[in-house]
Amino acid sequence: MKTLIACYSYSGNTLTVAQNLQKSINADFTRIEPVKDKWYVIKAINAYMGKKWPIKPCINDISDYDCLIVCSPVWAGRPTPGINQYLEELENVSGKKCAVLVTMGGDGSQNATQQIRDALESKGMELMGQMVIGGKAQKSGEWESMTNDFARKFKEE
Ligand SMILES: Cc1cc2nc3c(=O)[nH]c(=O)nc-3n(C[C@H](O)[C@H](O)[C@H](O)COP(=O)(O)O)c2cc1C
Repeated sequence: MKTLIACYSYSGNTLTVAQNLQKSINADFTRIEPVKDKWYVIKAINAYMGKKWPIKPCINDISDYDCLIVCSPVWAGRPTPGINQYLEELENVSGKKCAVLVTMGGDGSQNATQQIRDALESKGMELMGQMVIGGKAQKSGEWESMTNDFARKFKEE
């Protein structure tokens, strides 16, 4: 299965996890990068409001792939504005498989994952899996085995 990992990461946590996943399943990788950075409070408010920020060019046409894995940090319990923009820009995704990976400082909230998932499914994609890596799993190193387990889904296909 040919897979694309699309990753936004501000401080590197999501990037570390997404790159580990990439190695494990031998996927292609595209970075989602907003054109401009904003202050912490603006980040949180904009994420909470579901805003979209312009992003730099990246792979958003999924014609060549069977599966897309969208990776994002959680901001204010929501996906980030760069991810919201990416989800809107996605092309030729209908009928393809997808998965969602989020990292967060706390633990437990499934809100951001659900929103990304809803956006992908509303474009006709079929969800294969989702994973939330909280602060504890990042600190303890447990994220690595979690990611390896998650990767299995994409290798078996
Ligand atoms: C603006 C902002 C808002 C955040 N809001 C939350 C939150 O609501 N819940 C949470 O658990 N972590 C929150 N975090 C922490 C990040 O989700 C967490 O550190 C994540 O792993 C960062 O990923 P990154 O290093 O790829 O950017 C927030 C971080 C930032 C910068």
